[in-house]
Amino acid sequence: AAAASSYDLVVVGGGPGGYVAAIKGAQLGMKTACVEVRGALGGTCLNVGCIPSKALLHSSHLFEQANHDFKKHGIKINGSVEVDLKTMMGGKDKAVRQLTGGIEYLFKKNGVDYVKGFGKVAGPHNVHVKLNAGGESDLETKNILIATGSEVTPLPTCPVDNEKGRIVDSTGALVLKTVPKSMAVIGGGVIGLEMGSVWRRLGSKVTVIEFLDRICPSLDQEVGQAFQKILAKQGIQFKLGTKVVGSTVKEDGVSLSLEPAAGGAAENFDAEVVLVAIGRRPFTRNIGLEEQGIALDKAGRVTVDAHFRTSVPSIHAIGDAIVGPMLAHKAEEEGIAAVEMMQGLAGHVNYDAVPGVIYTHPEVAAAGKTEEELKAMGVEYNKGTFPFSANSRARAVGEADGLVKILSDKTTDRILGIHIIGSNAGEMIAEGVLGMEYGASSEDIARTCHAHPTLSEAFKEACMATSSKAIHF
Ligand code: FAD
Ligand code: NAI
Repeated sequence: AAAASSYDLVVVGGGPGGYVAAIKGAQLGMKTACVEVRGALGGTCLNVGCIPSKALLHSSHLFEQANHDFKKHGIKINGSVEVDLKTMMGGKDKAVRQLTGGIEYLFKKNGVDYVKGFGKVAGPHNVHVKLNAGGESDLETKNILIATGSEVTPLPTCPVDNEKGRIVDSTGALVLKTVPKSMAVIGGGVIGLEMGSVWRRLGSKVTVIEFLDRICPSLDQEVGQAFQKILAKQGIQFKLGTKVVGSTVKEDGVSLSLEPAAGGAAENFDAEVVLVAIGRRPFTRNIGLEEQGIALDKAGRVTVDAHFRTSVPSIHAIGDAIVGPMLAHKAEEEGIAAVEMMQGLAGHVNYDAVPGVIYTHPEVAAAGKTEEELKAMGVEYNKGTFPFSANSRARAVGEADGLVKILSDKTTDRILGIHIIGSNAGEMIAEGVLGMEYGASSEDIARTCHAHPTLSEAFKEACMATSSKAIHF
């Protein structure tokens, strides 16, 4: 029998958008429930995304260093360096377990009800839950927040079967049982390059097959090209301007049929494992939205206003399920802002200052506008770049690949875009984003004292190069 309970806020989806919103709601005094079907909190990010991928990126980086970099530092290994994949995977799984458990603890601490099941919107103030444990529950609530996230975009010519482990998506690529001799990655985006890097470091011959004529199409082009060169030097091969028109799964691998994107003769390409990573799509269908008359755009994203409200004012949506970059921190910011706005507070998300990071080695980080975007907008800008090869710390520790590039408004010197390739780019970008949030000019940062010797001095010097001249380059 259906039990009815009454809430101020019911969040559907327990990913970084949803669970953060639920905690915030409870902190603001709302009686809050969070419905999650997965059996664990943390969503895509924690369970099969950000966290497990970063665990494997770190472990595989250590292996790469032991194999190639230790000797440069005068460290010799007598005997062989080997991968114990089971232990490596175990470390990753442990991190995920601890973190998902941590969110359950935070729910208890803040008084959020965790409802395990599949939620469907049944009315402007009703969520119907098919409970994982069997049975159903009807939740009555003042506000509903849709935070159902996204799922892998399928490629019809290359159907994924993670169980079989031949054609996999990112979830399958995080749990391979052996290191494949070769891997074809379809899609030269963030997932393809991160997971491609993991398996390349562990010993696979990795080839990235990308439809467009460049990788990571949304990156600043100068940075994108430099990034591709670095990855190529590491041994990743690229087939750009290429589409996959068919696939045959065999006992020992997959045979792909490739064609030039512009048309032309087909070729066969064999790999032991194929990773499909051509993007993600919002998970918004069959959760009761259409029945309430809530509009989805062509890409399936829930249409919301500046207060994250759908056309039904009590129903809100955030994160991967709505427009914008599919990033965990973007979902979190929106979750907090949406809940604050429900309570009549001034929620705030600055979409001009959402950083994006690719966790390869070196890392790539960006915030704000690319040069191409500024040109298209007709904005006049100054550009300052500083290579890590001219940074003393980078030289001292052997991390001299990459650069910092700052774009600032020609008239006001306000920072408009930041583009970094560097071993700590993901951490370094925070300084720039903070500056952008406060409306800093590049001269503001150029005149801010940075500790020596740090990689961050490259950031300061790129800002110097924007407003006047760098000292060390
Ligand atoms: P999700 O995390 O997708 O969470 C939605 C949750 O809702 C899911 O757990 C789902 O089970 C649940 N759900 C859906 N429908 C229902 C329903 N009807 N009832 C109950 N529950 C439901 N982003 C970064 O910022 N940094 C990274 O390093 C990064 N790495 C990534 C690596 C990989 C391999 C992948 C796949 C993604 C990565 N991302 C990364 C993207 C990031 O995971 C997403 O942007 C983020 O998880 C979106 O958060 P969300 O809360 O909107 O949705
Ligand atoms: P993506 O959008 O980053 O890259 C997809 C790539 O595949 C693009 O370069 C695209 O041109 C290409 N492509 C599309 N169709 C193709 C086809 N048929 N054949 C060949 N190439 C094709 O998507 P990805 O890598 O799947 O990641 C999904 C989302 O997850 C991204 O939006 C990203 O924001 C998020 N993510 C973020 C991470 C991070 O912040 N570090 C890490 C991993 C994922």
